[in-house]
Order: sequence, then C-alpha cells, then structure tokens
Amino acid sequence: MEEELSAAVELVDSHAHLEARHFAADREEVIARAIAAGVMRIVNAGASLPASEASITLAEAHETIYPAVGIHPHDAKTLSETTWVALQALARRPDVVAIGEIGLDFFYNLSAREQQVDAFRRQLALARALDKPVIIHDRDAHAETLAILRELGPYRGVLHCFSGDAAMAEAVLDLGYHIGVGGPVTFRNARVLPDIVRRLPLDRLLLETDAPYLAPQPHRGQRNEPAYVRYVAERVAELRAMSLAEIAQATTANAVVLFRLDHRPTKRG
Ligand code: NI
Repeated sequence: MEEELSAAVELVDSHAHLEARHFAADREEVIARAIAAGVMRIVNAGASLPASEASITLAEAHETIYPAVGIHPHDAKTLSETTWVALQALARRPDVVAIGEIGLDFFYNLSAREQQVDAFRRQLALARALDKPVIIHDRDAHAETLAILRELGPYRGVLHCFSGDAAMAEAVLDLGYHIGVGGPVTFRNARVLPDIVRRLPLDRLLLETDAPYLAPQPHRGQRNEPAYVRYVAERVAELRAMSLAEIAQATTANAVVLFRLDHRPTKRG
C-alpha cells in the first residue's frame, strides 16, 4: 500500500512535466496528492511547443502550477521559424516563470548536435532579453554546456537534475546558477551527487522530481510525481545533517525567489 505523505512541511517541486501523457488518467489526483503532501508550488517545464502550451493551460487551471516554456534538446529539430515565433510569444507571457527546459543531450542525440547548440543559444538569449531565469538540461554534454554558459557570463537559473562533477558545480555556482537535485540523490549507488549536495551553498539548492521520470527511492523505476519531492528533501536533509523543516524552508525560499513564485499577474490573489 502507498503510504500517505503528510503536509508537515511545505516544499516546491521545481521541475515536473504534469502535462505528460503519463498523467492522462489521474492528473487531478496527482495534483491533489502533491498539495496534501505540502508541495504547494510546482514549476511545470515545457519540453516542446505543444508541451509548453499544455503547461500554460494546466497552470491556468491550478494555482499550484507555474509554467515554464522551452524546447528540450531532444526536440531541437522542431525549432522552425514558425515554432520560434510561437515560442517567443509564449515566453513573453507574464505568467511564464522561466525558459526551459533547454540545453544539450549528447546521450540520446535525438536532434543533431548543431541543432541542439543552436536551440540552446537562441533560448538562452531569449531568456536574457525577457529577464527570466533558465532551466537547463545537460546530459553527457557537461563541457559543451559549461562552455556556452561561460561565454555568456553570469546569469540566473538552474542546472536541473544536476549530473556534473564537483568542479562543474563550482563553475556554474560561480556563474550564478542554482543546482537542481532530484530522485538520483536517493539512489543507493549515488556517489558524486551526494558529496556535491553536502557541500553546496544552501541558498543555491533546489529540489525537484522531473516527474514522471526519475522517481526517488522507495519508488525508483515507477512513475514519479511531485508528492515524491518529499523523499528527495529527506535524503538531502540527511546528507547535510539538517532537519527536514530547515531544508524545506530554505529550498522553498530559493525557488520562490528564483522563479518569482509569489508573482502571479494573471491569477487571482
Ligand atoms: Ni525535465
């Protein structure tokens, strides 16, 4: 039986994909479970133009959800001039809190590398022009990602589901970025990430699920959902020898400031 996660602490899931088909059958229940577990704010990342549109629609129906829009490196090949014009219009919306997820994925290479680099650069420039934070995906492209971020200079955003080493963590922190930590920190074979999490400045740490992907222990291998960010928080608290309440308070404040989550121009309240 599924244990019920209670709302003793308030958390933010700084990266989820609730518009995904994986939630078609029970999306409302998933969102209700998040709220019941104290996950009062969820940043829903866009991975394609349709997913970004769906992210905005979902946020319009749920106070809990804040939309981000972007083209994932997997979908970089879909960034035509038409798509680019449409994405820019979405990005300008005042309710859109970030540009993402964007970046490089040289593991799957579902789009050609040159297309990925072009889409990444264009969207980084768009974020700067609009003064919005970025949500960066980097898989097996650490050197290339860092080179592009260094070339552009200091900015704000998050290296989501961080998978680099300690030197890369230090480099992106120096540039002003946050580090997003999710399910992999709970995996029993995790070595590098727990060490980074132990030493990270507390004010640069964000918690996330990447739901429906990368479920933390004890749900590894199953569909992930925002309520499970609690397991990530518990592991991070353990690694840093802090209380769950302290980790929750700090990471919630970090996400609220970075993504301006109290700023809802198109919503009531
Ligand atoms: Ni993601």
